[in-house]
Amino acid sequence: MSFSKTLIYWYLQNNRDLPWRKSKNPYFIWLSEVMLQQTRVAQGLSYYLEFTETFPTVFDLANADESTVLKMWQGLGYYSRARNLHFTAKYIANDLNGEFPSSFKEIVKLKGIGDYTASAISSICFDEAAAVIDGNVYRVLSRYFGIHTSTNSSAGIKEFKALAQSLIDPAQPGTFNQAIMDFGALHCKPQNPLCESCPLAGSCFAFEQKLTKELPVKDKKIKVKKRFFNYLVVHTEDGKTILTQREGKGIWQGLYQFPLIESVKNIDGKELISNPEFVDLFPDKVTLSLFNKKEIVHKLSHQHLHTQLWIVKTKSSSVARVNWGDIEKYPVPVLIANFLKAYKDEN
Ligand code: ADE
Repeated sequence: MSFSKTLIYWYLQNNRDLPWRKSKNPYFIWLSEVMLQQTRVAQGLSYYLEFTETFPTVFDLANADESTVLKMWQGLGYYSRARNLHFTAKYIANDLNGEFPSSFKEIVKLKGIGDYTASAISSICFDEAAAVIDGNVYRVLSRYFGIHTSTNSSAGIKEFKALAQSLIDPAQPGTFNQAIMDFGALHCKPQNPLCESCPLAGSCFAFEQKLTKELPVKDKKIKVKKRFFNYLVVHTEDGKTILTQREGKGIWQGLYQFPLIESVKNIDGKELISNPEFVDLFPDKVTLSLFNKKEIVHKLSHQHLHTQLWIVKTKSSSVARVNWGDIEKYPVPVLIANFLKAYKDEN
């Protein structure tokens, strides 16, 4: 049996029963695929169910306000994905009368949709032979065919894409794509792949050469930047705090946070209160205490945020306009959501 037929045969017996697989509605497939780029299926499932219940159609998502969308996305990270999702929902609802484009060429033009998502949607919903490439696909192909080209090099990306494209079953491209991804996730796993019961083991390069641990090859990551964040968690006597919405192009654009003072290393309370930004914000006397005695390091792909959360008690502040009772309504980065939870538990 051919490589693709074997995978599809395996998939028909072993595929995961997932809610979006009951549908060919491109709106649902789009949502699920964008979410699954952020997280594993087990975690993504609850986000998918909540999203589709709250926004059953692209019009519902288009009509929501951005804060609601970001709030529901909270925890998935990479908030630009949620903002793009919302932007594209508005475009489809308003400019395309709710009609999702039906070819790879058109789908890939949509904001926030790249080669992977366009391939997934066009193959699953419109039976177009567009091969998907994700971490699972890289692993299965590199092991089976013995490809040592690095999967995060431009040569590797091209080579694997061309190979997947040559293997896709044109009669059932969506099934093939999902089969190879599920096979990578469940069977040809990163650690401890199930080679003994593998239907492809008889012709697998890595199995034969005992190279499953070495494949796929990935170039070393670039250096991670360390940043030092001091959040000022303000309490006024009338129960208010300060939240500001992050602007600019960063990953947390649109989310809310406590006033932030960035430093070049971890600082103590003395250094903090003599910082000009702090003096500007609190010209009057404050009581300061550090909430996290142990440093919190929030890890993003290219930066580690060494974070200290300072509780700042002050009589009043003209910029403190958010009631503590309302704070959970604001979309915030996970780092702050985790703090709020711990803080609530302690108080
Ligand atoms: N990972 C992301 N999307 C997937 C899909 N449609 N099937 C299997 N694994 C996936």
